[in-house]
Amino acid sequence: MPLKIFLSKEKGFCFGVERAVKIVTKIKDRANTFGQIIHNPQLVQKLEKQGKKVVNNLNEVTEKILIIRAHGASDKFIQKAKKRCLKIIDLTCPYVKKAQVLSANLEKNGYRVIIIGKRNHPEIVSIAENLNSPIIVENLPQTKKLGFYNKAGIISQTTFNIQEVDKITAEIKKHAEELKIYKTICDATQKRQKAAYELAKKVDTMIIVGGKNSSNTKRLFEICTKIVTSHHIETKNELKENWFKNKKKVGVTSGASTPKIILNEVVKTLRKMR
Ligand code: F3S
Repeated sequence: MPLKIFLSKEKGFCFGVERAVKIVTKIKDRANTFGQIIHNPQLVQKLEKQGKKVVNNLNEVTEKILIIRAHGASDKFIQKAKKRCLKIIDLTCPYVKKAQVLSANLEKNGYRVIIIGKRNHPEIVSIAENLNSPIIVENLPQTKKLGFYNKAGIISQTTFNIQEVDKITAEIKKHAEELKIYKTICDATQKRQKAAYELAKKVDTMIIVGGKNSSNTKRLFEICTKIVTSHHIETKNELKENWFKNKKKVGVTSGASTPKIILNEVVKTLRKMR
């Protein structure tokens, strides 16, 4: 019997990624991108072939145009880049911009900013670099060690796990007299996580397609793997026949930075199995 394949209702490119990819592919000149424009190695390789080389700092810049990735960059970084007379094309997702603005306002108004997110993720770096003394917490044990603050404000990484943010927020409430909470998880992340959770409950294997370095894809995998056997793959080449032995229903979803063509190839390959 062939496998029954179910696709998640919410999957693939989100608004911010769609916008960034659309604009970047229209730029005909050679350019550098500050970090990977989105966290998908296959797409980044394709863009490199079209003359969009990734740089990790300003010393590596070789072209006149510098593109800021969807995860954003700090104001300090952008000011420095402008001084080098570069043309800046800023593709920061508006949801990330919103988190940057909210956190800066919190600090300006005397609140200690607590960021829930992965310390080394470019989005969190872009937010934290704009602030004087942000606190970053990645999990509950770290949050339990926080001190006590008169005024504190919470910002969350746009692609963080919704349930984790709720748990960490509940703990932070014990550490502040006055607390402002900005749940800055983006709409696309929330929808994809909820849809993946629902689908995982109905199937006996989940396949999550997306970059191994993609935060939002990793969160989808974390959610699904708690419910059912799950595999995080980047391309169809990683699929293994033995994963589906004695399995009937396979659910498939993909991260917000996964091109449709890669997802379609995975589904096509799955359909040929058994
Ligand atoms: Fe933006 Fe959310 Fe996508 S922050 S880039 S819409 S995952």
